[in-house]
Amino acid sequence: MPVTAREWHLAARPHGEPAPEDFRLVEVEHPDPTEGQVLVRMLAMSVDPYMRGRMRLGPSYAAPWEVGEVMQGGAVGRVVASRSPAVPEGALVLTDAAWRDLAVLDAGAVRRLPESDLPVTYSLGILGMPGLTAYAGLFRVAAFREGDAVLVSGAAGAVGSAAGQFARLRGASAVVGSAGSPEKVAWLREIGFTAAFDYHDGRVRDLLAQAAPDGIDVYFDNVGGEHLEAAMAALRVHGRAALCGSISGYNATEPVPGPRGFSALMVSKRLALTGFLVGDHTDLRPEFTETVSGWIRSGDLVVRETVREGLEDAVPAFLDLLRGGNTGKMVVRLAPDPGSA
Ligand SMILES: NC(=O)c1ccc[n+]([C@@H]2O[C@H](COP(=O)([O-])OP(=O)(O)OC[C@H]3O[C@@H](n4cnc5c(N)ncnc54)[C@H](OP(=O)(O)O)[C@@H]3O)[C@@H](O)[C@H]2O)c1
Repeated sequence: MPVTAREWHLAARPHGEPAPEDFRLVEVEHPDPTEGQVLVRMLAMSVDPYMRGRMRLGPSYAAPWEVGEVMQGGAVGRVVASRSPAVPEGALVLTDAAWRDLAVLDAGAVRRLPESDLPVTYSLGILGMPGLTAYAGLFRVAAFREGDAVLVSGAAGAVGSAAGQFARLRGASAVVGSAGSPEKVAWLREIGFTAAFDYHDGRVRDLLAQAAPDGIDVYFDNVGGEHLEAAMAALRVHGRAALCGSISGYNATEPVPGPRGFSALMVSKRLALTGFLVGDHTDLRPEFTETVSGWIRSGDLVVRETVREGLEDAVPAFLDLLRGGNTGKMVVRLAPDPGSA
């Protein structure tokens, strides 16, 4: 029997900060799945900073969303009807097809997830793309070593709170976090960051000099802009930075200038600044899953989520994420999990 789904379409490409009018919630009818297809009910969907890039045209690593079409993004769901033996009814799956409550998908477009006693939303956060980003960025890209002093910007977010804690768990000499509110700073201290500051409290360079007077060996950059410039000043000789994202510039309408003094700092301190994308590091997934699941189960890793309820709240959740309305991973719960069949 055909089913009616609700889905978010991109209504317009924003100039600067996106607004609710840039999105439209529509109803669509889906036919029954055909051979090789599955009908998936989404349990929870992710909203992520990189989605801001998908709202604009132009060269990017993720294809732009089309105006008037459904948007895409990570989600976890249950198969409620199947015409594919590989993905039977009741299977828990990860898909890139959310911003909707139901979808008919080719079985090849979903990845089966094992049943777990951990919340299904962890597949979108700490045990999913953001967690793997933190793991690959810190351990492979920045070549973190025991005893390193580490700075993480965007430290109270999904990737940042994971990266900072991973550094602590692997023997960092210090883990400094930067975040956007006193509550976030207090939380970072609670979960084991050795120092933390609110970047609204002054020049980042001065705040960092107070928090890490002896400098840092590794910078995990989620923010770019002023944070990157300050981190380059604080990095010691042979310091390394993993450039993960630059959210301070995601709503910019002109290209953002680079750090001042870039070449002189790079050369005199022999720095290594490396940009990376998590998609190039999926070979680490088995090792990452085993290690991080272990830290969660032992209680060594604190996992926090900001959970919004219902598909209607997906756009407000996304807009809030860009303004810092989340601590830990921002997810939108869409339906209760009935469990496996
Ligand atoms: N390279 C990759 O493969 C990859 C993969 C995933 C994510 N990323 C990047 O990693 C970063 C973090 O992503 P996430 O999913 O973990 O998001 P998140 O940190 O959970 O959420 C975004 C956070 O950005 C902060 N922010 C917003 N505007 C800012 C500004 N002007 N200056 C400083 N901070 C600002 C806000 O926190 P405050 O309250 O602290 O401002 C907000 O909570 C993003 O840059 C994202 O694009 C990269």
